[in-house]
Amino acid sequence: MALRVGASLIARQLRSRPASHCTTRHATPSRRHASSLPPGCSYHADFLTADEQDALIDAIKARLKGTGYERDHWDAVIARYRERELLAIDDDLAAAAVERVRAFLRREQGVTSFLPPHCIDLAADGGVIRPHIDSIKFSGRVVAGLSLVSAATMVLAEADPATGEPRPGARVSELRLEPGSLYVLADESRYDYAHAIAPEGRRLSLVLRDAPADFEERSL
Ligand code: OGA
Ligand code: MN
Repeated sequence: MALRVGASLIARQLRSRPASHCTTRHATPSRRHASSLPPGCSYHADFLTADEQDALIDAIKARLKGTGYERDHWDAVIARYRERELLAIDDDLAAAAVERVRAFLRREQGVTSFLPPHCIDLAADGGVIRPHIDSIKFSGRVVAGLSLVSAATMVLAEADPATGEPRPGARVSELRLEPGSLYVLADESRYDYAHAIAPEGRRLSLVLRDAPADFEERSL
């Protein structure tokens, strides 16, 4: 039987962080190092063809059909969004595009085992992903995302892995994510930097993650 994971469970598992974040969320990290990307972070413009983008947009919209946008909770990492695992992809071109990302991550990052692709729709009005580090319990060493429909800015800020909080004087990088691009967060950029997404309009994304090392034993 296929494992069906609802939106709120994805949100809780992947982006959980302790409540203590609330006390320091107005920290203003320095932008001295804004020009260079953190170690382990790479950006690949035009990874997808225009046809692949259209096919993936249709597949994601079909998967999210009938689900409403989540409301903004004051302490939530993600607001005005819909998300699901994209377990089966009917369209050949969309499926091949996802497989191309997996092949790239196997080759470039040595990834051997993937979690189901995770699709996210951020609403044009108020959709946002606030700074967080993806759960180290439910996700592995590599987080890679395809951006679709409209551009967004990813902000990466050196953070305390225990809390996801930007450090005082943290190094901060801004990465503009164009539609059709792929970004990869691995190693330091995945574990020691919080990432946040500020969209410029409605934005769809498809995020691929590897399974954490002991994931299969744990899920038996
Ligand atoms: C997430 C996340 C980034 C994106 O879902 O945890 O950071 O590109 N997503 O949508
Ligand atoms: Mn994330």
